[in-house]
Amino acid sequence: MKNILVVGSTGQIGSELTMKLRREIPQSTVVAGYIPGAEPKGVLLESGPSAIADVRDAAGLAEIVTRYKIDTIYNLAALLSAVAERKPLLAWDIQMNGLLNILEIAREKGVAVFTPSSIGSFGPETPHVGTPQDTIQRPRSMYGVTKVATELLSDYYFHKYGVDTRSVRFPGLISYTTLPGGGTTDYAVEVYYSAVKGEEFTCPIAPGTYMDMMYMPDALHAAMMLMEADPSRLKHRNSFNIASMSFEPEQIFAKIREYIPSLQVRYEVDPVRQAIATSWPDSMDDSCARAEWDWKPTYDMDSMTVDMIKNLRLKLGVQ
Ligand code: SER
Repeated sequence: MKNILVVGSTGQIGSELTMKLRREIPQSTVVAGYIPGAEPKGVLLESGPSAIADVRDAAGLAEIVTRYKIDTIYNLAALLSAVAERKPLLAWDIQMNGLLNILEIAREKGVAVFTPSSIGSFGPETPHVGTPQDTIQRPRSMYGVTKVATELLSDYYFHKYGVDTRSVRFPGLISYTTLPGGGTTDYAVEVYYSAVKGEEFTCPIAPGTYMDMMYMPDALHAAMMLMEADPSRLKHRNSFNIASMSFEPEQIFAKIREYIPSLQVRYEVDPVRQAIATSWPDSMDDSCARAEWDWKPTYDMDSMTVDMIKNLRLKLGVQ
């Protein structure tokens, strides 16, 4: 990775990944791709080049790839699961037509592509506990449909054209820099903001609903590690299960109360999010990622909670 384009650089993952790539690969050029209305600001804007990169505009993307001699694209443009249920055609347009544009440019110009998949690529018939790497994937959400199709299309471009496509199935990602938007796992981020601000939290997910989650530093590490992995060891490409923790709402609330005992929670279950959450795995088996590219997470629920609370207190200016 030398000249990198991050598509979706102002989103939850992109805003942190762009900065990490710039910090850790100092000889690289990392272009922060964005869409109008979601412009990079502050250090993200000042620390390197940025460009409008709408996945639906193939000519615009090709121009950036040529101008900066891009060799790697992190394709992070996506509508998350709950918002994709409200706007399924837009989700298809961004996730599928957008991906096709990127893969075509990658084929023509020899670019490597990382496009994340998700726990959302699984469905009700998937084994929910210890979900295997290779198993039934029949999701019922539009988000899930686009993620399975992303995996298949990325593999197709690898096998047919030799495009270096790689991917992980991200769990729900917890972070303090940029909020996610419209995801089913967002509650596990939002409850930290409520706890630190001393506000009551309204939980849209029912108690007892287990989902895989991960702290952002581990997710970013995975995205970089996989793109730098020795290709001869990769039996899978699109896409690897990765896991670090799995919990249900009461468990994360209890963990936060160890540090902020005053946290108040009430439930107001959102039927759309709850149906999606129930259909997703309770816990994934990530042994293939561990075997093929030495994946290993660093954070557990406790170390994540300590770090989230410390950083949110700084960010929000509260004690
Ligand atoms: N965090 C995503 C969502 O909830 C899942 O990948 O939609």
